[in-house]
Amino acid sequence: MKGIVLAGGLGTRLHPLTKVTNKHLLPIYDKPMIYYPIELMVDAGIRDILIVTGGKNAGDFLRLLGNGKEFGLNHINYTYQEGEGGIAAALSLAEFFADHQPICVILGDNIVEGSISRYVANFKKQGSGARILLKEVADPERFGVPEIQGNKIVRIDEKPAHPASGYAVTGIYMYDHSVFDIIKTLKPSKRGELEITDVNNAYIEQGAMQYDILDGWWTDAGTFESLLRASNLVCQNAAKGKTKA
Ligand code: DAU
Repeated sequence: MKGIVLAGGLGTRLHPLTKVTNKHLLPIYDKPMIYYPIELMVDAGIRDILIVTGGKNAGDFLRLLGNGKEFGLNHINYTYQEGEGGIAAALSLAEFFADHQPICVILGDNIVEGSISRYVANFKKQGSGARILLKEVADPERFGVPEIQGNKIVRIDEKPAHPASGYAVTGIYMYDHSVFDIIKTLKPSKRGELEITDVNNAYIEQGAMQYDILDGWWTDAGTFESLLRASNLVCQNAAKGKTKA
């Protein structure tokens, strides 16, 4: 399985923090944000990784990450997204890299407590289609929200005013190669973006979507509140680790 970290976009919700740097280079406690999704992939045994970035500071990713030696890698791939066409637009740039293999996609501003190895193994067993990870949250209206009937997701609404459940669709997605054909059929949403939620709804319509509920805490880090929360959660975990040792 190949891994894709999406770290494009302009991070305008974090101005002025992102005026002169990319959101994914901001610190989460003691490391730059981009380290967390990369470490999550490496921990799950995914070693062939593409970073999709954009904006004015793309060169800083290369200076920071190089060929991934710090993560135990020999090589990292990079590509560049022009503008801010949406998560699915950023993912479309990975088609050549994916080379018909299954992929694990992580949004560069998603931070989780535990490992995703178990869910990656579940997707390998699943064999085709898509698999997403859900997490119960206090503010589902900020996210993609699934409507669940029985043990099936019947629809996902992007940032609904009246959420159909208390779950967020986290920014960790696993897809087979048909994801790139689906993206080619998408039209921009009201906010002018190709939405990952539309990709997921296409898999749901095909009856090819499965999910897991993520263990441990999960947060995004794209707003001032969630950026601070992410640092605090990582810091608390580090403190727990020290007490155990
Ligand atoms: O964090 C999970 C949520 O992420 C999901 O629940 C939503 O369904 C999904 O749409 C997304 O929502 P956000 O509005 O929080 O996404 P945001 O625009 O903040 O983008 C998240 C990451 O995706 C960002 O850190 C980098 C990447 N991205 C985003 C855009 C718009 C790109 O690489 N390129 C882009 O053009």
